[in-house]
Amino acid sequence: MLISNSCWVIFTLVFPALAIRQTPDFASDALGLQQIQQHGNATLEKRDDVPAGFTTPPYYPTPKGGWVASWTDSYAKAAEVVANMTLAEKVNLTTGTGLLMGPCSGNTGSALRFGIPNLCLQDSALGVAQTDNNTAFPAGITTGATFNKALMYARGYALGQEARGKGVNIQLGPTIGPIGRKPRGGRNWEGFGADPALQGFGGSETIKGMQASGVIATVKHFIGNEQEMYRMDIPPHGLMKAISSNIDDRTLHELYAWPFMDAIKAGVGAVMTSYNDVNGSANSQNSKLINGILKDEFGFQGLVMTDWLAQIGGVSSALAGLDMAMPGDGSIPLLGLAYWGYDLSTSVLNGTVPLERLNDMVTRIVAAWYQMGQDQDYPLPNFSANTADATGLCYPAALLSPTCVVNEYVNVQADHANVVRNVSREGITLLKNDNTTLPLTTSASLKVFGSDAQNNPDGINACNQRSCDTGVLAMGWGSGTANYPYLDAPIDALKRKAANVTYYSSDTFPSGLTAATGDIAIVFINSDSGENQYTVENNHGDRDGSGLVSWHNGDALVQAAAAKYATVIVVVHTVGPIIVEPWIDLPSVKSVVFAHLPGQEAGDSLTDILFGDYSPSGHLPYSIPVAESDYPSSVGIVGFEVTQVQDTFSEGLYIDYRYLNKNKTSPRYAFGHGLSYTTFSKSSITLTSITPLSSLPPARAAKGSTPVYSSAIPPASEVAWPTGFNIISRYLYPYLDDPASISSSTPFTYPTGYQTTPQPDPPSGGDEGGNPALWDIMYNLTVTVTNTGTVAGKDTVMLFVQYPSDSPYDTPIIQLRDFEKTDTLVPEGSETLTLSVKRRDLSVWDTVLQNWVVPVSESEPFVFWVGNSSANLTLACESLNGACSSGRTPPVV
Ligand code: NOJ
Repeated sequence: MLISNSCWVIFTLVFPALAIRQTPDFASDALGLQQIQQHGNATLEKRDDVPAGFTTPPYYPTPKGGWVASWTDSYAKAAEVVANMTLAEKVNLTTGTGLLMGPCSGNTGSALRFGIPNLCLQDSALGVAQTDNNTAFPAGITTGATFNKALMYARGYALGQEARGKGVNIQLGPTIGPIGRKPRGGRNWEGFGADPALQGFGGSETIKGMQASGVIATVKHFIGNEQEMYRMDIPPHGLMKAISSNIDDRTLHELYAWPFMDAIKAGVGAVMTSYNDVNGSANSQNSKLINGILKDEFGFQGLVMTDWLAQIGGVSSALAGLDMAMPGDGSIPLLGLAYWGYDLSTSVLNGTVPLERLNDMVTRIVAAWYQMGQDQDYPLPNFSANTADATGLCYPAALLSPTCVVNEYVNVQADHANVVRNVSREGITLLKNDNTTLPLTTSASLKVFGSDAQNNPDGINACNQRSCDTGVLAMGWGSGTANYPYLDAPIDALKRKAANVTYYSSDTFPSGLTAATGDIAIVFINSDSGENQYTVENNHGDRDGSGLVSWHNGDALVQAAAAKYATVIVVVHTVGPIIVEPWIDLPSVKSVVFAHLPGQEAGDSLTDILFGDYSPSGHLPYSIPVAESDYPSSVGIVGFEVTQVQDTFSEGLYIDYRYLNKNKTSPRYAFGHGLSYTTFSKSSITLTSITPLSSLPPARAAKGSTPVYSSAIPPASEVAWPTGFNIISRYLYPYLDDPASISSSTPFTYPTGYQTTPQPDPPSGGDEGGNPALWDIMYNLTVTVTNTGTVAGKDTVMLFVQYPSDSPYDTPIIQLRDFEKTDTLVPEGSETLTLSVKRRDLSVWDTVLQNWVVPVSESEPFVFWVGNSSANLTLACESLNGACSSGRTPPVV
């Protein structure tokens, strides 16, 4: 059975290999059709061309890797190997072997003389995708809702263990972009929440956990992939280029790139670029983004890969800093054509791509491999993402493929079900609980409504990559999924736990029901989204069809239950915010539980909370507005345009709670909101200055040395077909039929601004994650949390920063900068938590200075607000005098 990504069989324009796309680096050439389109129920707004000021200046050459201390050993080992590689071996590691040309989502060529196998790149951010005997972990959004850094790490570690056990070298996660700018955005659920600090901690803890297992983590998608629709350059949309996300420099740094800085600081081994353009220049060959920001400012030492089939040019992407083309195919997949592979060999031999660029690509890849210890006993892939059968075609896309043993069904689950249950349970967010309706007793008479409580009757994995919304929603759809080994449905867990449960599986309220006194209705509803290659119930990845409304007439189901029963509990499985106004204030709607996307333990993790075995401790990783129109129209899904869809991030830094605060709009439930069955007090708050404030960070150190190789163009014979070679048709090789004929006689037109002299070291750089001083702790804040209630529970403390009132920079009123969660506190138990404020947390990106600047003020303090949601700020400390107090009026509604 072939279960692979047929979605990738997309027919795109035949761009000549190695051509530079004629998109200017500075602006878009899109036509400016002004129109509004209706698409399904959603209003799709057509907006401007790339407006003036949204630029992406050229940045060349690519900064070489190897100058950061924590990578020195790995680079030394890599350099020794790369110095001895042939051109063919080097090209092999940079280029995928082609779609469906190996067991994994992506497969590189190998350099077996040095023990480097074909590297296996495999989704996803929540488990090993398209295989068996794996664990289906809770999604990123659920993990974000735990606000628990230790659990984020534990999940990452378990994810990495499973990837390693299956022989995955490079795991395609975590997802930290999209950030969730657009509430309807299709893939927000893969990430951790609509805030850069939450994404940053979620991503970096996951990376540390994954990489401790030895797998190379991949942060994706760099950058601005905030909507799914029109994300790719494809003819089906009419000779259309991928959407252009138009982002100003400050917003890019402070919001969208912020979590990527955290990821690089955490030592991530790989970054995936996104399909979209930024400011009219494709991200897979955007020199400012890859060379400038990732590799120079942020000091990234690992490898940069494309998203699948996002590469649109050969030399252009190589010069812009791309290191690995995935899955290797050129503009038309499955034909054995590539921008790199054999054409990269050509362009090195003819001198177009400098050999030192190729050497740097390969060194970065091999260094990442050593950095995670993959030279020591690392398994080869023992599964196939292409088939569930034991044997199958080794290279399904080949005209004639040999047959291999492709699946060994290795069980990698270990005790990870516990990790799943802990994360899912701790993510569960109690939004409302009138009359202490929850927790329930096991003897309660429970009437359960909604198909979301049960499993898909066709099978838990019936829809490819979960591309349907049938039964309980425990993950979204697309490549960010994994197969369920089992799915513990809520209704089964309810029946196991409680004595008196009746289930009505329809999403239409049954007629003729009579409610008895004491009956409690539990209504399950959901809202789904995913990746653009699938359309589910008229939603094209994004929730463009449904909007923020629960699917399958969930609102009507809740309303009908509320009309009949005096006590209604609503359980919501959702990818993001839904508007709850149609029923939230109905008198019988007593409790509302957001269970997010729980993964395989959807049942027990929920009943753990519903019956009070654990007190809920999840918090919303986004705001729930009263109406979608409370947000600016710029965060709506942008609609079709003939040449290129323009998506201008005109709201700047103001997304989610930052926008609502600015506009003095109260949400229905604030970012961070989440109730408990117990109560907590916060006391004994202290603020300690650790490092004196200065407006600019101390000057960075100069870069260390990088590997030096011979610059002589290698002999053409290094990419001649080896004698007696058994060629697999359509497989992407580095070899050429007549390499000796390659000459450097044809001059090549380099991109605007191309230069070979290195750029001066940017002042904002200096180490992985940028200038190391950005990570200096400026203040520590301690606070004692005491359980003042009657049952055990965990509390979360969030720290939001308010900038000095005389700061010249227009900055959101408050911004989350740190959070910590207590252990389980028994009644009267207490714990003192320490939260930190780092230099970057107090800085703005100054677009003129091109540096992080603290708006230090002699007279006006930074205020550090402490609370457990963006709207519940109960304590405050001031930077200038260190004084802390309670009862101060917060600056937000
Ligand atoms: C496209 C998706 O955008 C990306 O996240 C995924 O890793 C690749 N396909 C590979 O499946």
